[in-house]
Amino acid sequence: MNIILKPEIDPKGHQVYLSDGSLPDTIPDLREEEREYIKKKLEAKQSLILLNRLSHLIFILNPKIDNQPTAHQKEAFRKIGFDLFTQCEKEKVDAIQISSLTAREAYLLDLLEGFLLSTYRFNKYKSEKKTVSVEEMHIICAAVSEEQIKELENIVQANFLTRDLVNEPLIYLTATKMSEEIMRSGKEAGFHVEVFHKAKIESLGMNGLLAVNKGSVDPPTFSVIEYKPENARNNNPVVLVGKGVVYDTGGLSLKPTANSMDYMKCDMAGAATVIGTLYAIAKNKLPIYAVGLIPATDNRPGGNAITPGDVIEMMNGKSVEIKNTDAEGRLILADALVYAKRYQPDLVIDLATLTGSAVRAIGHEAMVMMGTADSSTKEALLERGEEVYERMVEFPLWEEYGEQLKSDIADITNLGGATAGAITAGKFLEHFTDYPWIHLDIAGTAYYHKPDQYRGKNGTGIGVRLLYNFIKKKY
Ligand code: BES
Ligand code: ZN
Ligand code: ZN
Repeated sequence: MNIILKPEIDPKGHQVYLSDGSLPDTIPDLREEEREYIKKKLEAKQSLILLNRLSHLIFILNPKIDNQPTAHQKEAFRKIGFDLFTQCEKEKVDAIQISSLTAREAYLLDLLEGFLLSTYRFNKYKSEKKTVSVEEMHIICAAVSEEQIKELENIVQANFLTRDLVNEPLIYLTATKMSEEIMRSGKEAGFHVEVFHKAKIESLGMNGLLAVNKGSVDPPTFSVIEYKPENARNNNPVVLVGKGVVYDTGGLSLKPTANSMDYMKCDMAGAATVIGTLYAIAKNKLPIYAVGLIPATDNRPGGNAITPGDVIEMMNGKSVEIKNTDAEGRLILADALVYAKRYQPDLVIDLATLTGSAVRAIGHEAMVMMGTADSSTKEALLERGEEVYERMVEFPLWEEYGEQLKSDIADITNLGGATAGAITAGKFLEHFTDYPWIHLDIAGTAYYHKPDQYRGKNGTGIGVRLLYNFIKKKY
């Protein structure tokens, strides 16, 4: 879509106005009965008012934001952005003009964000491609700059990249293919990528990744993304680690098919979110040193698959008894977390579709967050989460939970008890960190089974806007 800043509205085209509850006085040529009609609708607190002038449409947007905290107000504008988009599609509008010369102009970018995020389509495998009717948008608003629009477009593009990767099935997106996609994105956005293949992974002793890969006929990959601009504000990078299980069958601890295995192509959503975030950071040339680490493999019950009862020695010397091969994410993440140490990171954030327990605890409306980073860092992340409405709930890492990981024959097992599964998974990861660290379990938010406004359906890309804004503000 082409977005252009314009000084004034063309009265012959489709027009959108942001109302602050009263009749916007900038609508040209309003007839008396139109005026009355709009006023009545505004009084009835209708959030989207449509005036059909036959030659063109006039939309008046009036979301309910009174007495709401700012985060909710911003979200109300994203949602009205989705409503506007839906109406435009219905009416087959090809070009719109949005005018905000009112008290609501501070929310124009939120409206735009909701609108643009709603335009996502995954058409690759459809013979009939679903297109978006709106091709051009004119913005008439002094409070918004071209740079801000460009930044937003890049963030939306990054969110779409993440959604595309999550929506790709395994038959296309193997571990090797994902590493190629990372290199392609690196060329486009301007970050450096190095891919470790099996021999290098072996020589580094990444035994968690190798163990999970044993049942597969496809080789694993470990991708290292580096973005280090000359003007970087931080000497020690922020490192993002993403779970890249391109398909999770559970391995020998096989998942039941219905409702459980059938959408496990999404088990690389952590990786996809890391790729999307670095894409947005690099595209927008943020002065920040950031690294992404992506261990990738499928988890299969093939010939030589690891078995429940196997013991492996991890990169940092700790031994792990595998009690359940379906708890594979933590094994491959452990290698990446140990590898992260060599960067002397300022902060490490890992993202993973790690546990069903996280989904059972808080559903699809939030991510589970845990970590050893200081409380001001975690507070800042939670705050950004409210602002961009990609929210988190913090769970504790109390040492008592660690008891559940005791093993008879190894240092720890990869399986906790019947309760607090999201936390015991976090406790497992903690064994492989010795720097400020935050863990995000995105099992509930990465993939939706029914549409949710501008977030859509299937891959959501949730996490990209969160991390981009968090990192931008922190450094
Ligand atoms: N990939 C799954 C977790 C998952 C569940 C992701 C639902 C997305 C939606 C993970 O590898 C897994 O299988 N976890 C097990 C862990 C258990 C065996 C300790 C789980 O949550 O059941
Ligand atoms: Zn699993
Ligand atoms: Zn998994």
